[in-house]
Amino acid sequence: MRDVLVTENIVGSEMETLKNDFDVVFEPDLWKSPARLLDTISEFQAIIVRNQTKVTAELIHAAFRLKIIGRAGAGLDNIDLKTATRAGVVVSYAPEQNSISVAELAMAMMLSLARKIPAADRNTRSGEWDRHQFSGVELYGKTLGIVGLGRIGYRTAVRARAFGMDIIAHDEYANPDAVIVSELRARMMSLNELLKQADFVSCHIPLSHETVGLFNYGTFCRMKPTAFFINTSRGEVVDEEALVKALKDKKIAGAALDVRQQEPPVKSSLGEMDNVILTPHIAAFTAEGQERVVSSVCRDVADILSGREAKNYVNFPKPKRI
Ligand code: MLT
Repeated sequence: MRDVLVTENIVGSEMETLKNDFDVVFEPDLWKSPARLLDTISEFQAIIVRNQTKVTAELIHAAFRLKIIGRAGAGLDNIDLKTATRAGVVVSYAPEQNSISVAELAMAMMLSLARKIPAADRNTRSGEWDRHQFSGVELYGKTLGIVGLGRIGYRTAVRARAFGMDIIAHDEYANPDAVIVSELRARMMSLNELLKQADFVSCHIPLSHETVGLFNYGTFCRMKPTAFFINTSRGEVVDEEALVKALKDKKIAGAALDVRQQEPPVKSSLGEMDNVILTPHIAAFTAEGQERVVSSVCRDVADILSGREAKNYVNFPKPKRI
């Protein structure tokens, strides 16, 4: 029997402590070989993943010694939570440890779109000095539409307020009387109304059967032709073909995507558009954010393997299977 299997590149000081205290097998590319993972998992009591390892029902059933699944991040869409819970396996995650990093990237995307920074950088590097082509817009006085007013949406809105933006928000589950809504002076509204009013739409929703493809051609057509769309949540909430068409038809002014419908993405005309910014799912990737995320997950794994309770669990603090 082995202790911990790490299937993605998850590093940090607490991972080093875990390696010193337990038998940790570090295989950062194993997520790419689901069959090999399935063959090995039965030996382990704990698995630590990011978002690329698919922790399926089949994998959980094969993992008969598994006590804890540590998800080094916030999204749980790659984990079969129902099966893990039925099997008595603790699922630990880091729901807010990277939320500042993601909110800061959302702001960076907004500023980059407003000021055309990536295109201006490419232009300058090519030897041009075309100042007039790169005249932008201010964030000040603009309306930011936050879709999903959770931990990340809230932190993005706080930062946007400091830039003098007005906040409108749509969230199926948020309490309109919650103190954060008054603190942000946010106006809660339907998605359709938000799309009509926002100058920037920033998406912060989890992936679920309700949100997949939420942003489609019809949705983009409801936005202002001068508005920008930012997605740092999950790629599958956007129909990318529809986004390309909306950009070509000038239904919106630009878009920034940190996450893609397929990761790594297939070649797309999005990559040829100057008013589009693309990054490789890096919103949570900061030194500070990752240190917090990895610490919380590694500590939970160490606690469970030592017979103590996990702190950042989704289902229960101790394994129900011994
Ligand atoms: C998250 O869900 O925490 C982020 O998307 C980062 C990740 O999946 O690793």
